[in-house]
Amino acid sequence: MGKALIIGCGGVAQVAIHKCCQNSSVFESIMIASRTREKCDALKDKLKDSKTHIETAQLDADDTQQVVNLIRMYQPDVVLNLALPYQDLSIMDACLATKTSYVDTANYEPRETAKFEYSWQWAYHDRFKEAGIMALLGSGFDPGVTGVFSAYALKHQFDEIHTIDILDANGGDHGYPFATNFNPEINIREVTANGSYWENGRWIETEPMAIKRSYCFEGIGQKDMYLLHHEEIESLAKNIPGIRRIRFFMTFGQQYLTHLKCLENVGMTSIKPILFEGKEIIPLQFLKAVLPDPASLGPRTVGKTNIGCIFQGIKDDQEKTYRLYNICDHQESYREVGSQAISYTTGVPAMIGTMLLMNQTWFKPGVYNVESFDPDPFMDALNEWGLPWQEDHSPELID
Ligand SMILES: NC(=O)c1ccc[n+]([C@@H]2O[C@H](COP(=O)([O-])OP(=O)(O)OC[C@H]3O[C@@H](n4cnc5c(N)ncnc54)[C@H](OP(=O)(O)O)[C@@H]3O)[C@@H](O)[C@H]2O)c1
Repeated sequence: MGKALIIGCGGVAQVAIHKCCQNSSVFESIMIASRTREKCDALKDKLKDSKTHIETAQLDADDTQQVVNLIRMYQPDVVLNLALPYQDLSIMDACLATKTSYVDTANYEPRETAKFEYSWQWAYHDRFKEAGIMALLGSGFDPGVTGVFSAYALKHQFDEIHTIDILDANGGDHGYPFATNFNPEINIREVTANGSYWENGRWIETEPMAIKRSYCFEGIGQKDMYLLHHEEIESLAKNIPGIRRIRFFMTFGQQYLTHLKCLENVGMTSIKPILFEGKEIIPLQFLKAVLPDPASLGPRTVGKTNIGCIFQGIKDDQEKTYRLYNICDHQESYREVGSQAISYTTGVPAMIGTMLLMNQTWFKPGVYNVESFDPDPFMDALNEWGLPWQEDHSPELID
């Protein structure tokens, strides 16, 4: 059916690319373009038996003109951005210049401030609309599937949703004292930032990890989890009418938190440049260089993830609670595509969002988050492509 240009070749991209190749009737041809071309070529080699035609290219996606040139040469139907949040705007600019639709999994973040919000990308809405192209923002798991779950709950289970609690649990064990399961720089920026949640029309900000709860997750067991700021809170607050509160919790083990606190205390998580042997370096980028590459955790990670949403609201004038979630097994993901479940749970929805845009099931010119579309085709595709969902009509609630 079409051609996709996929930018980035890290943990998430490797899963999305495997999935595109399993879905070759939609993805007839893909171009993998990333900073390190050897990684793209190695992946192409692994997938040489696929029916999808694969090309590769070296690309610095910070440079809009380079992205424009590659799009003009390859002429894709869509660009799937699986590089880092820093590249979102330069790639969106290239998409505008070439009138090409765009998909990503994480919202823009300026390098120099650990701050992520949709305002920068939503500001492209009118220009994308005028150009007749679409941007689908946040088509990973969280954000991504959590937004689709919210749209599905609203369509099929509620007249009005009042609260959403998003719970992201990782019961995986990789055997290292400390490692992050996606890009360490982005992950540590996220978890060391202040927490926040949405309540009654405004943001409530907290100290990092200040709100702790415990929850029993099917497939994992009882886990401590902490309230974080997360980007889908911002879009769901805008797109779910009548919503009163949205919170996001992620599980962390004590060992992870102790290491993180120590690294913070000695300044290793700072993003302020320092002089080291006459050269400016950013401590967090140096830390990334010495930590295990998340893409290498696949063979050694055992256990499961359990990610989903608890909804409370009204149906037929009755109060109602409902939970939607997915359980994903690290080793099963590894056996299928050679990656652990965090990359898997992000890469599969990235492929699905791109597929729905390419086959025009989800298409309207402008810039949109996933919950702005009919959730049913996405929910069907989750079951088909490896992330089956489950529901619970009397879930445990969180105070
Ligand atoms: N929504 C969700 O549920 C969710 C969950 C996890 C992650 N994510 C997002 O997914 C994205 C990818 O994460 P990941 O764990 O796969 O990260 P990763 O393993 O670090 O991969 C990032 C890839 O982008 C490439 N890259 C970086 N800068 C580039 C540039 N200027 N030009 C071209 N390529 C560049 C890197 O190249 P090198 O190989 O040379 O380093 C690498 O291949 C991130 O934006 C992350 O925030 C979303």
